[in-house]
This record gives sequence, structure tokens and C-alpha cells, in this order.
Amino acid sequence: MAILKIARMGHPVLHRVADQVADPTSPEIRKLIADMFETMEDANGAGLAAPQVHVPLRLFVFRVAATRVSGDAEDVQVANRVVINPVVTLLGDDVRMRFEGCLSIPGMRAAVPRHWRIRYEGVDTDNAPVGGEVTGFHAGVVQHEYDHLDGILYPSRLTDFSLFGFSEEINRVIAERGGN
Ligand code: NI
Repeated sequence: MAILKIARMGHPVLHRVADQVADPTSPEIRKLIADMFETMEDANGAGLAAPQVHVPLRLFVFRVAATRVSGDAEDVQVANRVVINPVVTLLGDDVRMRFEGCLSIPGMRAAVPRHWRIRYEGVDTDNAPVGGEVTGFHAGVVQHEYDHLDGILYPSRLTDFSLFGFSEEINRVIAERGGN
């Protein structure tokens, strides 16, 4: 396994629509995903999309830590998970401001409007279906990572620029608001 170089905002690979994965079971895809898990853990991230490691393909990895869950039945801890060729459906009209960061925009955080509830579908490296109907942090991280596959970074989702800034400053705002 290897720790991969992460592209930063401004690199063209982050600003294009990624391509479908032809064979999710191929050895090359399995190796890429193993390296992405290692890279995500090394960077202490919650998610990582293939374009962020200079591979313009439609797949991402993520994890939901026990400390981040909302308490909803559909928002529970999730160990490392890969989603290949995902489809995301936004459910309902409950949109909430959620604080997030991005490994491609190091040192910064923002509150971004995200649907509270979504359904997503995709496959893993055995071509087995993954996904389901989820809420809260799980729904937020999937929306964030899915955006990467369409060349969208969170700043283009912002509606309140007073809640976009350096992590040290925004974390102070979050603390004053009593968590995220
Ligand atoms: Ni990101």
C-alpha cells in the first residue's frame, strides 16, 4: 500500500467530471482503493474521492466515526467503505447547514447546506451493492464526496461566507454554537 499525493483546489483534476469505472473488480481498482483508505487515514480525513488523488474515476471512500454521528437510526458508525459508480438521490426538503472540511482545501472549514436525508447506491470491489437511505453525517459526507466526482468543491455550495474560514477560527465558532 502507499500514501497518495492529494490534489489541492485549483488543480484541474478536481474541476472536471470523472469517468465511470469500467470494472470495479479489477486489480488496479482494488489497489487504488487500498491506497485511498491508507491515504484517508494518514490525513485523518472522513472521506476521499478518486479525483483528489489524481485519478478521474467515479469512486470514493469514507468512514463515519462514532464521535460524528447525529443519533439518528440511519446515521451510525461506519467502518471504511468504498462506493464505486455511485448514484445519489436527495430526499425530502430538510436542508441543514453542516460544517465540513476537505483534504483538497487544507486548513479551512465551512458550513455548507446539505440534505439531511439521501439515498445512495453503488458497488464495492466485489460488484456487491452498497448504500442505502441515510441521514446526518453519513448523508453529508456522501454528498460531499459525490460532488468531487462532478468536479464540485464545497466553496461553490456556500451560502454564508461568514461561516467559511480557517479551521482555527471556524472551530471557535462551532464551539460557541455548542458543537456542529
Ligand atoms: Ni473533499
